[in-house]
Amino acid sequence: MEDEIFDKYCQAGAFAASVIRKGAREIRPGAPYIEVIEFIEDLASSGESGLAFPLNVSLNEDAAHDTASFGDERVFAPGDLVKLDLGVHFDGYIADTAITIDLGNNGLLVDASREALSRAIEKVRPGVTVGEIGAAIQAEIESRGYRPIANLTGHGLGRFVVHRSPSIPNIAIQGGVVLEEGMVFAIEPFATTGSGHVNEKRRVEIFQQISQKPVRLATARKILEAVSGRQGMPFAKRWLPDNKPDIALATLIHAGVVHAFPVLSDIPGSLVSQHEHTVIVTGDHCVVTTA
Ligand code: CO
Repeated sequence: MEDEIFDKYCQAGAFAASVIRKGAREIRPGAPYIEVIEFIEDLASSGESGLAFPLNVSLNEDAAHDTASFGDERVFAPGDLVKLDLGVHFDGYIADTAITIDLGNNGLLVDASREALSRAIEKVRPGVTVGEIGAAIQAEIESRGYRPIANLTGHGLGRFVVHRSPSIPNIAIQGGVVLEEGMVFAIEPFATTGSGHVNEKRRVEIFQQISQKPVRLATARKILEAVSGRQGMPFAKRWLPDNKPDIALATLIHAGVVHAFPVLSDIPGSLVSQHEHTVIVTGDHCVVTTA
């Protein structure tokens, strides 16, 4: 990897780490979602940096892909287990990091995903398979009496690309991609008191343009105009200028132009914790850009 690119990944990582630390302090019982989320998104998109995707704020059994909607009236409540998942980029080079904030009494569950992430990072070096990383995550979480979420994975990162090969499983799999020097990816273990599988909820707040096909509907064209600066990175419904975009979005999804990311949840009443770092594989180990 060129030094200049390596430096941009590291800058993005250090910045993401500082933003998520500041953001975490804003999450307390009674704080309105929308204010906290907009505060963190504003911090993250200042100066040279931009958001790689909308700030994900997912509570309790929700593992990923929730964020504030237009006029969201929710407030954080005592007992909530809050996952903050932040992606920023410098010139397209992405840092993806997540932490869990415990407003209740779930410290052991929070520790499980944090320690699993540490075990996974310890394993990273050229020649190791992604299956071995998944095995380390699964073993650590299960040794603590929880389940890893099997159908959520870490993911490779590219310039303006939030999800690409390799996938980094949270469970042991046979073989899989062999890690090589210069690979950039996010590792994101999820630990749960639930089933260890997520399902899609009906709620959808995050979308991504996936093709450039022409569309006739004027309101749909307006949406594509509004997100053209995203360079294919995900956007929030809340960011759109039209505050009733559902029909236009449905049209774009049906036409294969936009992809929807529904909220992903384990079983009702369960609790999910998550930690995530972005790493670059080096000759003998890795650099954690978001540490
Ligand atoms: Co990620």
